[in-house]
Amino acid sequence: MITVHTVAELRALIADWRSEGRRIGFVPTMGNLHAGHAQLVRRAREHAERVVASVFVNPLQFAPDEDFEHYPRTLPADAATLAAHGADLLFAPGVAEMYPGDRAHHAAVTVPGLSDVLCGAFRPGHFAGVATVVAKLFGQVQPDLAVFGEKDFQQLLVIRRMVRDLALPIEVIGEPTVREADGLALSSRNQYLTVEQRQVAATLFATLSWAGEQLQAGRELMEVEGSAVARLEDAGFKPDYCQVRDAETLGQPAPGRARRVLAAAWLGKARLIDNLPV
Ligand code: PAJ
Repeated sequence: MITVHTVAELRALIADWRSEGRRIGFVPTMGNLHAGHAQLVRRAREHAERVVASVFVNPLQFAPDEDFEHYPRTLPADAATLAAHGADLLFAPGVAEMYPGDRAHHAAVTVPGLSDVLCGAFRPGHFAGVATVVAKLFGQVQPDLAVFGEKDFQQLLVIRRMVRDLALPIEVIGEPTVREADGLALSSRNQYLTVEQRQVAATLFATLSWAGEQLQAGRELMEVEGSAVARLEDAGFKPDYCQVRDAETLGQPAPGRARRVLAAAWLGKARLIDNLPV
C-alpha cells in the first residue's frame, strides 16, 4: 500500500489507474481505525479493483466545543490496518493541504432537511462539514464507488442525497454496523469511556433492540420512544434523542414505509450513537 499526503500525488496515481481502466473504490475515514472501518475496506475491495482510503480529521465537522483537538490520531497503526485489509492507497492530507485558503470562505455543500434533524439538531453545521469534505474527497479521488457505515446512518443518508442531488457519478454502498460481542457499535469514541461506563455502554444497543421489539408487538410509537429515553437515563446515559423515523427521509414514519430507530446519548465524555432497522 502506498501512502500519500498531497492531492498532486493522489491525482497522479489515480490517473494511472484510470488510464488502465481500473474500477476505483473509496473509503473515507477520520482514522483511529477499528474492525468497522476494516469491514468497509473489505467491502470496497469486493466491488473495485483498486481501493483508496482517506484518513483526515476534518475540522469543518467539529463545533468549537467538540473533540477535534483530542480526536485520536494514530496514522502508522491505521496504515497497517488498511494494508492488512486490502487498501492500495492511503490518502492522509494535513489540514493545510485540504484547506489551503481561508476556511471561513470555503465553498460549502449543504443538504437541507436531512441535516437539520436528529444529530443535526444537536450539532448545527456538522453535516454541512461532512458533506463538504466528502464532496471534496470525491473530487480528489474520483471513485466509482464509496462505502459508508450504517453506524452513522444519518450521515449515510446525507451522502446519498448529496450524490443524487448533485448528480455525482458515484455508487454509494451502505455497510451494516460492526459490533462488540455485547452489541456496542465499534467507535473511535468508545475509548473515551471508563471501564465502568464501558459496561453500561451496551445498554444503548439493548435499548434500541427493545424499542424495535415493542414496535413489532404493536406498542404506540411515542410511548416506546419515551420509555427508551427513560431506560437510557436509568442506565446512566444523558440521551440527546431516541426516535423512530422513516428510514429514507428521517421524517415521521408512515404506514408501509421502512422505519429505523435512532439514538444519540452521552455517557461521560463520550457521545455514542446507534441505530437499527425496525
Ligand atoms: P469515521 O467516524 O472515521 O467513520 C468512517 C466510516 O466508518 C463511516 O462511513 C462510518 O459510518 C464507518 N464506521 C464507523 N464505525 C463503524 C462500525 N462500527 N461499523 C461499520 N462502519 C463503521 O464518518 C466519518 O469518519 C467522517 O464523518 C467522514 C465520512 C470520514 C467525513 O469526515
